[in-house]
Amino acid sequence: MARTIRIFDTTLRDGEQSPGCSMNLNEKIEVAKQLEALKVDIIEAGFAASSPGDAAAIAAIADNVHGSTICSLARCVEKDIDAAWNSIRRADSARIHTFLATSPVHMQYKLKMTPDEVIESVAHNVAYAKKYCEDVEFSAEDACRSDLDFLCRVFETAIKAGATTLNIPDTVGYMVPEEYAARIRYLREHTEGIENVILSCHMHNDLGMAVANSLAGVEAGINQIECTINGIGERAGNASMEECVMALNTRKDLFGVSCNIETRQIYRASRMIQTITGVSVAPTKPIVGANAFAHEAGIHQHGVMANKETYEIMTPESVGIPKNAIVLGKHSGRHAFEERLRELGYTLDKEKLDKTFEKFKALADKKKVIKDRDLEALVGAVPVSGEERYTLDRFVINSGNTITSTAVIRVKKGDETFERAAVSDGPINAAFRAINKIVGKDVELEDYTLRSMTDGEDAQAEAIAKISIEGSEIVTGRGVSTDVIEASIKAYINGINKYFID
Ligand code: KIV
Ligand code: ZN
Repeated sequence: MARTIRIFDTTLRDGEQSPGCSMNLNEKIEVAKQLEALKVDIIEAGFAASSPGDAAAIAAIADNVHGSTICSLARCVEKDIDAAWNSIRRADSARIHTFLATSPVHMQYKLKMTPDEVIESVAHNVAYAKKYCEDVEFSAEDACRSDLDFLCRVFETAIKAGATTLNIPDTVGYMVPEEYAARIRYLREHTEGIENVILSCHMHNDLGMAVANSLAGVEAGINQIECTINGIGERAGNASMEECVMALNTRKDLFGVSCNIETRQIYRASRMIQTITGVSVAPTKPIVGANAFAHEAGIHQHGVMANKETYEIMTPESVGIPKNAIVLGKHSGRHAFEERLRELGYTLDKEKLDKTFEKFKALADKKKVIKDRDLEALVGAVPVSGEERYTLDRFVINSGNTITSTAVIRVKKGDETFERAAVSDGPINAAFRAINKIVGKDVELEDYTLRSMTDGEDAQAEAIAKISIEGSEIVTGRGVSTDVIEASIKAYINGINKYFID
């Protein structure tokens, strides 16, 4: 029987902690549910000791997600392990993931610990975690720049203390595939008891080799891959889940392994992460990029029309990219609308479905044809309940190349209405300034992007406004409209609303 490779998703921990990718509670739960739909084996839901917000989000995920093991990260410190356990204790299946660095540079300069002290800490803290939880993972941070014989000692210690999974991360993305495989083979040959535990890889992408290194690890005996949707993560990111999984599936002939992932949920997961974080993937990104299945050259198109296998090694349907079966418009009813959303992989609760349908009808009045990307934009733009503190009521902009721009913005907050005017060099900045006056907060615009979601003159624009309020963490606001100024104002207000519910 084929060996099964466990997929350990760390989008909500290593991914979420990278700059510009932070998510609020509702967003984390939505992502965790999508990871469950993907049939991810383990969800690393966060780092409980890092903040009360992280701990609460992990606990909410443990309460709401049942198909996957829920894991929290913890340093080799008792209070971290206590926090990790408190956050996951209600999960149907729980894991504590504790880690300590083992490379000379980390031990000397970061930990200020001797190798013997590191061994002692691993023995104590893995055993401490084991008192709470049967499933304990231990990671040797910066394992790929650690002395191999020392690493064997560390891992033997962790196994004796009760670790059930050992992770050999490439924390700084330094490895090349053959070198990583050789490391795994050495550890397997020289670590007592290693045959009784699961071996895991966790590769960073600094040299662009995170996926290749993960696959080399699998060939050398790794049974768990740690990865993130779209490869988001610290610096150059982590190994991308969709690339690892589709490589294992497409080259089953070579790897001879299987995994439990429901690949038809991949595209939806990728779109969800792009929408929530505002971090888009490149068009050429394997598996989920806009061009991943597009055949532009005439000779390729001809080949694909004759037989798809000429230029396609996997089908778009296998990763959940929808076929354009029906196009919706002004006369489409709720049934067709709901049906198409379902085909795109969205099962919305009644409240969100009602709101999205309302927006669909409004859009259909402006646009002749509503395509899948329009629908995805609508779903992503409808706030989940509790997220709408301020809503845009109306705006008036006066702008031109020979005048100072002015904006008058009116927003609603519950039953109250607020209106303010502001001026600036450009219309969007004037609008943002007027909103700042209404909110009465010091709002800093950290990043702003505007792009077209669909093609044609009546395309919808998507604006992403990354803002920080009075020195807060950056929050990502998103707005969609056929009017670029309206999309921008909505994005800014959406960011402010998210700040208030965080
Ligand atoms: O990159 C790394 O080493 C990590 C560990 C905490 C597993 O993220
Ligand atoms: Zn990492």
